[in-house]
Amino acid sequence: MKNNFYITTPIYYVNDIPHLGHAYTSFVADTISRYKRLSNFDVYFTTGTDEHGQKVENSARDKNINTLEFTDKVSARFKDLCSKLKLTNNDFIRTTESRHKNKVQKIWNKLIDNNEIYLGNYEGWYSIRDECFINESDIKINKDNERIGPSLDKLKKVQEPSYFFKLSKWQKPLLDFYKKNKNFVKPVSRFNEVKSFVENGLEDLSISRTSFKWGIKVPKNDEHIIYVWLDALFNYISVLEDNLENKYWPADIHIVGKDILRFHAIYWPAFLLATGYEIPKSIYAHGWWTINGEKMSKSLGNVIDPNYLVDTYGIDQVRYFLLKEIPFGQDGNFSEELLVNRINSDLANDFGNLVQRVLTMIQKYNNGNIPKADNLNENDLSLIELPKNIYDINNVQMNNYQFNIMLENIWKIIRSANSYVDNNEPWNLHKNNNLKRLNNVLYTLVNTIYKITILLQPFLPESSKKIFHMLKQKEEISFSEIKNDIKEGVKLEKSHPIFPRFDKKDLKI
Ligand code: MSP
Repeated sequence: MKNNFYITTPIYYVNDIPHLGHAYTSFVADTISRYKRLSNFDVYFTTGTDEHGQKVENSARDKNINTLEFTDKVSARFKDLCSKLKLTNNDFIRTTESRHKNKVQKIWNKLIDNNEIYLGNYEGWYSIRDECFINESDIKINKDNERIGPSLDKLKKVQEPSYFFKLSKWQKPLLDFYKKNKNFVKPVSRFNEVKSFVENGLEDLSISRTSFKWGIKVPKNDEHIIYVWLDALFNYISVLEDNLENKYWPADIHIVGKDILRFHAIYWPAFLLATGYEIPKSIYAHGWWTINGEKMSKSLGNVIDPNYLVDTYGIDQVRYFLLKEIPFGQDGNFSEELLVNRINSDLANDFGNLVQRVLTMIQKYNNGNIPKADNLNENDLSLIELPKNIYDINNVQMNNYQFNIMLENIWKIIRSANSYVDNNEPWNLHKNNNLKRLNNVLYTLVNTIYKITILLQPFLPESSKKIFHMLKQKEEISFSEIKNDIKEGVKLEKSHPIFPRFDKKDLKI
């Protein structure tokens, strides 16, 4: 029986079209999903769109479009991006779907039944950009003497009747939970921030609004709209219809940006405890892609369109760059020039060249057939062993999702294989008619490429398929096959280059 593994991305706000930051979170979740599938897990991977709240209502109004029509349009852009990036998500949930709205209203009733909610009055400052109330201590004054929140947006004074969730009573249970579940939030530094926030005390949370209409109505009091975060967080359960909830909940991991960790690591477990659900096993908060040091975001007007990048450079190329360029968890600065450097050096020069020259030599020197190996020497065997060793090492790195280190480890094999070509000079073996050694060298190389490609599948899924096709293999090969060698004697497909080089003269961004 396979073990289950449930992974989610945040659901994206539809106040504007997708940018590279969104694509990053989705690529990461897709990489983990593929890795787990290849490790024989039964994976469920979900994503979707967060469509309610004042921010979305205002965006539709600014564009003079009916709100539902607006959300349909923008949500479709996010869905299209899933296909464009060839994500392997099992479902895509929209919070405007009735399966979700019904679930959230049921949750509300449960909170009422469990005496977790009371009606009161809210008076305070609200950030529409972040869709949350801002504590006095987090408010700053800008140069025009206006109150601004942590995301630097102008705050709105709110004074209205509101339902409150008794968050304060969950302080101790949350701290106990954190103590028992040391890996609940990663990286550790972020977990420490969460703990100290909770240790400083929790106030009850306003969970309904009356001053706008775009959202899920509070049952039996439809003047009130359910707070967008309470609504949105439950997507992780409402997306699991029928028997899927039993099968996959609690989630194994929520991938989120560091900006929304507080909602996931504090409010979310409190909501779950209050409604009798199990808490997810882990949350990973990753860093931000910045442009000249500033967070890429719609409000700052510095967003990069992932469609442009993928159309220009290819899906795997963009995916590889995002995973390789920064340690997962930290911020990273994006530039098209860095992207092109990475593609040219790692993909075109190192890996692309290796594949191309080895396959071309097999065509030229052995009529396109994988040669038969006979009495491989120590160097041959140690190169062939490397991928299996790196696989074991990477499995440990995978506990902390350190993709850049995993890729660096795979590149060590690629570099060793390139040096092996240079040291063994197969062209001279051919010239001198040393056919036995030539066959051993070419067999060692094609076998190593085969195994490297097995390791690369979660990171470069499209290119791996192309290489497997040239090697006359299945489209996907499970990690457990890494210990088996490629079969001798197979006639290969004609090879073609997979990673073109790009010229820095053509940069557009
Ligand atoms: N709708 C909420 C999430 C609700 S989940 C129950 C939301 N949406 S968002 O569209 O604003 O952002 C969602 C996610 O996009 C962030 O958490 C983060 O994962 C990703 N990113 C948005 N901008 C980003 C960068 N500049 N860099 C990296 N990731 C970024 O918050």
